[in-house]
Amino acid sequence: MRLKCLHAASEVAGFAKTGGLADVVGSLPIALKSRGIESIVVMPLYRACRNSKRPMEPLDLRFRVPIGERMVEGRLWRSTLPDSDVPVYLIEQPEFFDRDDPATQQSLYQLTNAAGDKVDYPDNSARFGFFSRAILETMRLLGYWPEILHLHDWQTGLAAVFLREIYQKHAKPDLRGNYAAIRTVLTIHNLDYQGTFSHLDLPMLGLPWRLFTMDLLEFHGQLNFLKAGLVYANLLTTVSPTYAKEIQTTLRGAGLHGVLMQRSNKLFGIVNGIDEQVWNPATDPHLAASFDSTTLDVGKARCKAALQQHFALDVQPRTPLLGIVSRLAYQKGFERINEVLPDFVRQGVQLAVLGDGEKKYRDLLTELRAAFPGQVGLMLGYSEPLAHQIEAGSDVFLMPSLYEPCGLNQLYSLRYGTLPVVHRTGGLADTVADATPENVAAGRATGFSFTPHTREAFADALQRCVAIYRNHPTTWWKIQQTAMAQDWSWRRSASEYERLYRRALAE
Ligand code: ADP
Ligand code: GLC
Repeated sequence: MRLKCLHAASEVAGFAKTGGLADVVGSLPIALKSRGIESIVVMPLYRACRNSKRPMEPLDLRFRVPIGERMVEGRLWRSTLPDSDVPVYLIEQPEFFDRDDPATQQSLYQLTNAAGDKVDYPDNSARFGFFSRAILETMRLLGYWPEILHLHDWQTGLAAVFLREIYQKHAKPDLRGNYAAIRTVLTIHNLDYQGTFSHLDLPMLGLPWRLFTMDLLEFHGQLNFLKAGLVYANLLTTVSPTYAKEIQTTLRGAGLHGVLMQRSNKLFGIVNGIDEQVWNPATDPHLAASFDSTTLDVGKARCKAALQQHFALDVQPRTPLLGIVSRLAYQKGFERINEVLPDFVRQGVQLAVLGDGEKKYRDLLTELRAAFPGQVGLMLGYSEPLAHQIEAGSDVFLMPSLYEPCGLNQLYSLRYGTLPVVHRTGGLADTVADATPENVAAGRATGFSFTPHTREAFADALQRCVAIYRNHPTTWWKIQQTAMAQDWSWRRSASEYERLYRRALAE
């Protein structure tokens, strides 16, 4: 049977992005398509989407759903995923989505308060409650009835609830039948973002109080969108096998380990793929020089020199250059960077950082740069080209994340011959093979990993890394070759999703 799928997410690459979720939703549907699975994508029409250069057109398709006392209208716009004909439907609702944080002229979820801290928009439950209903309205307006509704993260969690509690009980028998045939898969991209709101929002969202129980939507007295999705979806996935295990423990379960343990036999870990068109050092338009595994030395040397110039670092070809591209968030391990990097920089390594996020980490990195001019480069903000230039021009990529559901940057690094140094957790554990003497000898090593998440263990891994770079260039080259030969494309992961979709339908 030919499968039809609807992907719903709050971010899609090319339209609006804060992290890896956008990359995944921007490329998985294309990979599924090459396996014969038809997909459409549904997302909010943020101001960022209007500002993106994607062509899009308004459709004469509108709907109204109750939010609180009001009927709120939405309208569909149509576009396609970049470099493909996979349709993207954007939900226009100016009051909810056509806005920005005045301080930064961007932001999908937060704004900057008077103290300079980022805080959530006060109406996020209404915004994403509305979006979750809009997903179900979209099917009706388009007459597009997917077998699989694939939801991503907390912003779409309530769609699984609305589907079962409202739409599958629709007064019109034909619509009721169409909704009843749909199976839901919810992918957890990050369990720490749950969408928790006051329980008083329940009636505003049009949901009955009888759902506010411990085994359904209630979470410590609050309404929890992600938990709702975890309880109501037919199957659950997350973005690596190791993270799928970790989130069933108290340490990494973020309070939801109980629910996840209960649904353990419905929870699967599938490592993300990468978009090989966008992240390919041989064709990357952002680079000073393109390269593949046969031209790595020359190509990377040119990219490295360009990166050093960009950040006004000393242009020295044999100085190890360490790169970071990251959201500046607790998850990403900046405490470890702060503890360990100054010593290494004093011993002569360079650091190039691109990131945006919490003030605390912006300050920490700003101080680091001030302490080591010529050796630490920093750009606070968001830049697609610079992200590519750091991946290509660095020798080493740092990801000492405290936890990491999958992580995409280490996968990009591997492809660019930039050896990752990672905490052995989640997707980082599943995708980076530590350069132990055994792994090196067997031709398996692709980077450096450490555990536990301590200053000592991180420093030790970085020391091993820098020592091989400086003293054993042939070994370094061999690890680079192994890294670049890894296949983290969507081909493998898309087939796993297909198997899962068929399982959801069979249940
Ligand atoms: P997460 O989704 O937790 O942020 P991932 O490693 O899965 O982590 O994905 C991060 C994605 O966001 C990558 O595509 C990375 O290049 C991109 N990214 C993060 N911060 C920035 C930034 N400041 N500028 C440009 N791209 C960024
Ligand atoms: C989340 C995770 C990251 C993952 C991405 C895409 O943002 O933090 O590890 O790669 O989603 O699944």
